Amino acid sequence: MRITVCLTDTRPEAWVSGLRAALPGVEVDVWAPGAPPADHAVVWAPPQAFIDQQPALRGLFNIGAGVDALLRLALPPQTRIVRLDDAGMSVQMAEYVCHALIRHFREFDGYAADAREARWGYRKPLSRRDFPVGVMGLGALGERVARTVAQFDFPVNGWSRTPKPIDGIRGFAGAENFDAFLAASRVLVCLLPLTPDTRGIMRHETLMKLHGGRPGGYVINVARGAHLVEADLIPLLDAGQLAGAALDVFETEPLPPAHPFWRHPKIEVTPHASARTLREESIAQIAGKIRAVEAGAGFDTLAGVVDARRGY
Ligand code: NAP
Ligand code: GLV
Repeated sequence: MRITVCLTDTRPEAWVSGLRAALPGVEVDVWAPGAPPADHAVVWAPPQAFIDQQPALRGLFNIGAGVDALLRLALPPQTRIVRLDDAGMSVQMAEYVCHALIRHFREFDGYAADAREARWGYRKPLSRRDFPVGVMGLGALGERVARTVAQFDFPVNGWSRTPKPIDGIRGFAGAENFDAFLAASRVLVCLLPLTPDTRGIMRHETLMKLHGGRPGGYVINVARGAHLVEADLIPLLDAGQLAGAALDVFETEPLPPAHPFWRHPKIEVTPHASARTLREESIAQIAGKIRAVEAGAGFDTLAGVVDARRGY
């Protein structure tokens, strides 16, 4: 069995040595044009030229959760895509979303500004009841986020494609219930996969429905930049319809230095850092799945196997 590693924007050496240690006796190498074809590949955003040299590829193991970049490739018919199933990301996402939510709700930026002026002043406590949080996507990451936010006593709504009952979360499912979900939510968290159905899901028309159309909505996008129609955001912030946004992902990454998001006073920018891939956990998970497949398990028994027609 042969495994090849092809990672864009990530140094592959530690992945190769980690996979070799986790799968003794298996040939693991960094891909180079002309290298012999592999049975499995460990990848992040590989080029089509890489796929074109893998006619016998069975498993395409992504070192991230989102597979939108892989679904754009033309794959051999037998190849199955397997994404990371949490692998230490959900706790990071929960930290990020709770941090953004609580920073906004408790007005910590205002206190920080006061502290810089040596000003001792209280702000009137706000009610959590007035800040229902809506989490779009209740998968490996969204469910953990929704549960963690609920621990802070915020009312939490969850929206998924199919019904997903979770204790303490008000569930909404399907396009037919999207408007009701938006109306019931003031803080909107995006943890959807990027698919034709979800691209541009946060745009003027939908953001106007947040919080029943009242001003004061807040947007947290930690999924993909293309979920948000970027040109629609600043006018809604400047008009006071939205109170702010915490954005970790962008249509163009890295976010260009001249992009207005960097300097807008109501936008917090982070560089696609809300949930980083943790190498050790990811190697252990991927190696476990490769061992299972080689022992005869079907790909459909693996957590995180992608349904290409569904898009995630
Ligand atoms: P996942 O386990 O595949 O969960 C996806 C969720 O979205 C599911 O609940 C699914 O509904 C729901 N969904 C999909 N299409 C929908 C639609 N059209 N309408 C309503 N709900 C829909 O994904 P995950 O592991 O939680 O990751 C989510 C995304 O986060 C990834 O795809 C990736 O793009 C992003 N991400 C970002 C970072 C970062 O650092 N910023 C890190 C990791 C991941 P069902 O439950 O009904 O299937
Ligand atoms: C990161 O964005 C991921 O999809 O894992």
